[in-house]
Amino acid sequence: MVSRGVVDLRSDTLTQPTDAMRQAMASAQVGDDRYGEDPAVNQLEERFADLVGKPSAMYVPSGTMGNQIALRLQGTVGSNVVVGRRQHLMSYESGAAGMNNASQLYAVDDAGGVVDTVAAAEAVAAGQGGFWPPVSLVCLENTHLASGGLAIEAGEMAAAAALGPPVHLDGARLFNAAVALDTAAEELARAATTVMSCVSKGLGAPVGSLLAGPPDLIAEARLHRRRLGGAMRQAGVIAAGGLYALDHHIDRLADDHARARRLGEVVAERWPGARLGEAEAASGRPFTNVVAFRHLDALGLLDHLHGTGIRAGLLAPGIVRFVTHLDVDDADIDRAIAALSSAPD
Ligand SMILES: Cc1ncc(COP(=O)(O)O)c(C=O)c1O
Repeated sequence: MVSRGVVDLRSDTLTQPTDAMRQAMASAQVGDDRYGEDPAVNQLEERFADLVGKPSAMYVPSGTMGNQIALRLQGTVGSNVVVGRRQHLMSYESGAAGMNNASQLYAVDDAGGVVDTVAAAEAVAAGQGGFWPPVSLVCLENTHLASGGLAIEAGEMAAAAALGPPVHLDGARLFNAAVALDTAAEELARAATTVMSCVSKGLGAPVGSLLAGPPDLIAEARLHRRRLGGAMRQAGVIAAGGLYALDHHIDRLADDHARARRLGEVVAERWPGARLGEAEAASGRPFTNVVAFRHLDALGLLDHLHGTGIRAGLLAPGIVRFVTHLDVDDADIDRAIAALSSAPD
């Protein structure tokens, strides 16, 4: 629950559905999605597939489940799955990959948001030569959270896809990337065989993510979703919130980015060089709705902010993060800036 007077910048998952979204949810036509008979879910899946340029899509309760199912589908037994060291799938899914799929993760550097293609190419070549396990999948993330929400251009994604193995794109915030780069989500997803995006983050829906890809893989994905207990029934009630978000909340992400930019400027002034992703952003890889920075007393800073009614989170120990979203306006950012300005060094 959002307490009155508190500006909650911990995450873009904290949004409340708007009145219009709640109305869309309340009036959704629903059915049993386990039988494929929920019109709102079917519509959401079709709309998402269309936006990311894939033939099919499946609604899942969370982004984590979408990523894990993508791994199950494409990370074959005894293979390596190349993944950025700090991607969500590697570092923030409670070790799920080790329980959920038959491949092993092969982590390469992803400082600045992009997987190290030289290290990835080495893994692919070693796999082809029979020295190392073959690489069955390469995972990318866009925007890349752990580098401070940088948006990665389609060309850089294509370079990873050119390595050969299929690509899974964790696009939890793909629409933020598309808006920041002024391109279509479809362009950013083109190099990927499967793409996952969340409607429950910056887009402001209460629940859910989608996994899109070729029809045969998505048909198999539905089996994995059942095995994981993720098949839902009259899910149209929540899917309608996602559909509303895709129809009404994509363009407004630019406002979140502008607000994060204001916060970022203050952080850069107070703690020069501390912001993650600064160098890459300066060379043209844009920031989006995240401001993440190193601080020697991160917990102390969070306490100070909390005392002034501003909530921020930790991206990792010693790294403070702010995430702008639908429930944060310009006046809230003014308050956050004042709180940062009065913070001890
Ligand atoms: C980049 C990224 N991928 C995947 C996820 C997982 O989404 P969920 O929290 O819905 O499981 C998140 C969640 O924060 C994320 O930031």
